[in-house]
Amino acid sequence: MVNAAPRTITFVSRNPGKAREVAAVLAPFGIRVRWRRRELAEPQASSLAEVVRAKLAAVQDVPGRVLVEDSGLFIPSLHGFPGVYSAHFLEVWGFGPMLELLQRRERRAYFRTVAGVRHGRRIATFSGEVHGSIASRPRGRGGFGYDPIFIPTGWKQTFAEVPAAEKDTISHRARAIRKVGEFLARSRPDR
Ligand code: IMP
Repeated sequence: MVNAAPRTITFVSRNPGKAREVAAVLAPFGIRVRWRRRELAEPQASSLAEVVRAKLAAVQDVPGRVLVEDSGLFIPSLHGFPGVYSAHFLEVWGFGPMLELLQRRERRAYFRTVAGVRHGRRIATFSGEVHGSIASRPRGRGGFGYDPIFIPTGWKQTFAEVPAAEKDTISHRARAIRKVGEFLARSRPDR
């Protein structure tokens, strides 16, 4: 029941694009998102879940309910690359080498988000995915990160070519964060 939902959660991330999406997705659940801009160290890890566990450990000083997440773009024909290395790969290389590699390979790809909620010693995690393919060139000015090269299955446009609210209908992050909203709506405000 939305009325019984806790009203506020603190989202810790350095990324304003993620903060906007998280706030928009949780609003219909009656949950207000307080964004705390902070870079959380990401360990060398083999899964998003492992990174999220490390982030949850790093936000123990933040009072109340705290939300963190980690996301990645996975390309099966590149053995899942860039996956957990998505941020580093994009910062160092941009889109170029990936688009070049994919000229001779299957272009299927998916985004995955793992979200983690901490309240005191209690933690819970939730995941979401969206499948699609990598465009032959970047298109669109919206969104962030890999949005200009990701075309969801059944769409003609990239995530960067549609209004933010449209990305939120199907995105990996929205799917994971909606599960967070349902979880918070089920939990008692004082627990
Ligand atoms: P991280 O979760 O901040 O580590 O993100 C990993 C990389 O994926 C970063 O380069 C992000 O910009 C990118 N990324 C995360 N979420 C999205 C998304 O929703 N769309 C496009 N790129 C994303």
